[in-house]
Amino acid sequence: MINSSKELFEQNFNQSPTATSFASGRINLIGDHTDYNYGLVMPTPLSLGIEVSITPSNTLLIEGKTALFKESVRSINAPVDGSWLDFVTGAINVFYEEFPNSSKILKNGIKLAISSNLPANSGVSSSAALEISLLRAINKIENQDLDNCKLAKLAQKIEHNFIGTMCGLMDQMVISSGIAKKAMFFDTKNGNIENVSLFKNHKFLIIHSGSSRTLSKSLYNLRCQECQGASKQLSIQNLSEANKNMVDSLEGVYFKRASHVISENKRVEICLSALKNNDPIKFGEKMFESHFSLSKNYEVSSKLLDNIIEKSQSLNILGGRLTGAGFGGCCIFLINQNDCKQIFDTLSSYFSDIKFVDLI
Ligand code: GLA
Repeated sequence: MINSSKELFEQNFNQSPTATSFASGRINLIGDHTDYNYGLVMPTPLSLGIEVSITPSNTLLIEGKTALFKESVRSINAPVDGSWLDFVTGAINVFYEEFPNSSKILKNGIKLAISSNLPANSGVSSSAALEISLLRAINKIENQDLDNCKLAKLAQKIEHNFIGTMCGLMDQMVISSGIAKKAMFFDTKNGNIENVSLFKNHKFLIIHSGSSRTLSKSLYNLRCQECQGASKQLSIQNLSEANKNMVDSLEGVYFKRASHVISENKRVEICLSALKNNDPIKFGEKMFESHFSLSKNYEVSSKLLDNIIEKSQSLNILGGRLTGAGFGGCCIFLINQNDCKQIFDTLSSYFSDIKFVDLI
């Protein structure tokens, strides 16, 4: 299990933290690159996650300890610099902007320690988990009216304004509000959420491909812009409003991106029914389709991810796809629950760098 951030805090600062909070990572079962197009998604929380311990200080510094990144210290008022402390600066700022009547004690300085068993830059939302755990810890100190939906939106604001990824709301929402072992069907347009139990005799196996995401921030933001460009050309607010005829009127990159978005929304709907009707075969079929749409039309896969998914099609697997933003990171497979070891071992014999992440 996770090495406690509390112990790390005590070892480094010779005092106990004032607040400790945990947030899990997430895996997206299906519905990628649809959330910022106001479409449909279906993620679920992981058991792995990030724990944060914090204490206010009077040093006017952020003093951070973690085995994950370089030990770091900087002024509490310093501008963002691309380091992990930007998450701390972001969390403090968005929280106090939302709750101007709180004590603002953390504006005088903060000591913190972070522990994690969630792989970073891998498509399992380590950044949203860090944002949510920081905001939860701050709220333990400030004790404000922070419901799960507000928590998710504040975390998204950190990502937009302090990290620079113009993400949708999927990750922050499932991490703040999702239920373990349930898929969270989330309609990002109207905010409706339905939590549905996962399959009884089938499991989702999550593996790390062995290559972390590269250039993901700039390419992710480029995809968002391309979708906005396509929507503008169609005179609609967002691509989830487009129908097949409208998409067929587009060309080139706009056609490809829009084709992915409208077909992925449809696949999420079909997978929701498949889950409710206990139809893992249909669910799996849509996972493979999702992968190839993300690869060919959305162009967010990699040679390695494509090779892993193509290989998995010849094994006893119901479905498989890249998951999350793409450009490297994790894959998810739907399998018979007894086949986990055999499937993992077979995949490992072809792809020596893959690592087991979770089975849910
Ligand atoms: C990242 C973003 C999410 C979502 C996925 C792709 O995880 O944070 O908002 O867009 O990529 O589905």
